[in-house]
Amino acid sequence: MDLITTIREKAKADKKHIVLPEGTEKRTVKAAELIVKEKIADITLLGDPDAIGKIAAEVGADLAGVDIVDPVKSPDFQAYADAYFKMRESKGMTADKAVVTMKDPLFFGVMMVYSGKCHGMVAGAENATGNVLRPALQILKTKPGISSVTGSFIMISDNTQLGDKGVSVFADCAVTPVMTAEQMAECAYCSALTAKEIAGIAEPKVAMLSFSTKGSASHETVDKVIEATKIAQERYPDLLIDGELQMDAATVESVGQSKSPGSRVAGRANVFIFPSLESGNIGYKAVQRFGGVEAIGPILQGIAKPVNDLSRGCSIEDVVNTVAVVCCQA
Ligand code: ACO
Repeated sequence: MDLITTIREKAKADKKHIVLPEGTEKRTVKAAELIVKEKIADITLLGDPDAIGKIAAEVGADLAGVDIVDPVKSPDFQAYADAYFKMRESKGMTADKAVVTMKDPLFFGVMMVYSGKCHGMVAGAENATGNVLRPALQILKTKPGISSVTGSFIMISDNTQLGDKGVSVFADCAVTPVMTAEQMAECAYCSALTAKEIAGIAEPKVAMLSFSTKGSASHETVDKVIEATKIAQERYPDLLIDGELQMDAATVESVGQSKSPGSRVAGRANVFIFPSLESGNIGYKAVQRFGGVEAIGPILQGIAKPVNDLSRGCSIEDVVNTVAVVCCQA
């Protein structure tokens, strides 16, 4: 069974309830029909029911079994606005501004997750990553012991010599523009969890990437990766982790063993932590486009409850698959 099928089957085995705030977005509406028909998850679409109905007719989607909630007419609206006002009052939020904010389906959807009405949220088919992330960061916050949210991609290559039989996890490719050493260490831990729980990698081996391997170059950015590796090794002693490693030293057995002899990770890594969002975002896209490698994600890691982002170029299948990933995270 391929990884996507495995993820969908896992979601079906323990059905969750997911909110899709972009209720009038065509691919999302069609995906809602498929998700409910295939029993992957229960779905709530947010928006005006008439407007959603029109889109459903346009794309030929039968929304029987899909829950539709109009945020402003919801009996929960005022309670969500009040709760949001209270949690953000110290940041300058006012009761009036909270009401206006709650009309934004992305905020209303996150409040549904926060309050336990839904297990997770998927959005981003028509909203930029930052707009999807902001309500999640403000309202849900991070998991205990994690201070920073990061975003990973599961990379699936036909070359089974790479990663774990062709499957690898890359991070942070989506969230934190400049990670501190501490954040990079946390990212390593969260990405190893993603590798295990979502990508099905039984033994995550984490490479902390740099343009230097074991002192071959010196620069303050290299020092950060060395420091991050040290923090992760101390804080997560069960994690197999090595750094600082160049990409070839992390992936090619002969290079890895010559540059980091005796390492259990060098040359065999299946989780790759990039030193910055710039390198991570460019890196995963380069591998995806030049290498013809399938990229699943971004999978947002470290949020207290699961919220995932879609690319605005996503397909209907991408929406279905991302919902299945959120179900597994939940
Ligand atoms: N982890 C946890 N909390 C965070 C993080 C983080 N990485 N970043 C910000 N926060 C918190 C802040 O502490 C703050 O909390 P508070 O308001 O309760 O004090 C809240 O989130 C808002 O923080 P700001 O810094 O004001 O938020 P900002 O407007 O800068 O947005 C965001 C943060 C959205 C993550 C921003 O850094 C961003 O846009 N990142 C890049 C996203 C992106 O464009 N990725 C590339 C495209 S994705 C792709 O190609 C797959």
